[in-house]
Amino acid sequence: MNQGTRPPCVVVIGGGTMGRGIALIAAMSGCDTRLVDVSETQLKAAMEYAHRYLANEVRRGRRSEDGVDPVLARLQTSTKMSQVIDGSVDVVIEAVVEDLQVKQEVMTAAEAGLEDHALVATNTSALSVTQIAAYLRNPARCLGMHFFNPVPRLRLCEIVRAVQTSEESITQARQLAELLGKHAIVVEDVPGFATSRLSALLGNEAFRMLEEGVASAENIDDAVRVGLNHPMGPLELGDLVGLDVRLAVLEHLAATLGDRFRPTTTHRRLVAAGFTGRKAGRGVYSYDDDGHRTESPG
Ligand code: NAI
Repeated sequence: MNQGTRPPCVVVIGGGTMGRGIALIAAMSGCDTRLVDVSETQLKAAMEYAHRYLANEVRRGRRSEDGVDPVLARLQTSTKMSQVIDGSVDVVIEAVVEDLQVKQEVMTAAEAGLEDHALVATNTSALSVTQIAAYLRNPARCLGMHFFNPVPRLRLCEIVRAVQTSEESITQARQLAELLGKHAIVVEDVPGFATSRLSALLGNEAFRMLEEGVASAENIDDAVRVGLNHPMGPLELGDLVGLDVRLAVLEHLAATLGDRFRPTTTHRRLVAAGFTGRKAGRGVYSYDDDGHRTESPG
């Protein structure tokens, strides 16, 4: 990135749970922000999310009414990467589905339109950033910037150093994370980094306990929330993350780190049924259109 004193121009690819949050905080931090998704529906939902989030900030007195439109004006959407990637882009952050092949395709296509100074980051939860970087013309500019859900609220950004990543890229990513209001940590490119590895293991154990009949989902979540003082229980967190996303992470960690990450049958069955969590209206728990829980789990 060599944008000098102006905030960087950021392209976010993938407008789902994570991408829409990353794009919003970039626009809120003053960046010219462009959000790309293959799905019009997802882009529309992403803009609705931004409107809702900002209206809520106004309601809570955290932002003036006049402070909304400038943020929205900095947030453009498109279904075509070629329309938004040009020489003015300083950083691309990829947040498409957790699939190595899709990520490699998206990253190489994005890099083709970038100037040499631009940073290319992936928000992968657990895939190898080194493998993703290996497909790029300039792998030294590639790294992981792992944000957390919900993006505007959770302050950590795990910066993942691939084997090929340059120190300069790490410094630039750290500066960007700080501009976006995040606390940055740097981790090596090992499966699951620091956070996904711990969180996936806890979530998987909670599913095992559910299968063994140790306690109800609500009581397992209470044990962790009330007893261990986590802000959320592992099963409600799985619903928030997306059970499909979590399943892909577990499969990758099982293949690389061992059997303790093997996903449970219950988890697989929920995903097979399309019950992928809060975004689908049903996961371990059921949700209304606003994402509030509507009933006890079955
Ligand atoms: P999601 O399923 O909500 O969104 C993925 C989006 O990518 C969809 O809108 C889809 O239309 C779009 N997409 C798919 N292929 C595309 C392509 N070729 N070009 C442009 N857009 C494309 O997934 P989510 O949860 O946002 O996850 C995205 C990434 O972030 C994954 O790598 C995941 O592991 C990671 N992540 C997810 C977290 C979570 O809590 N959900 C937390 C941290 C990282």
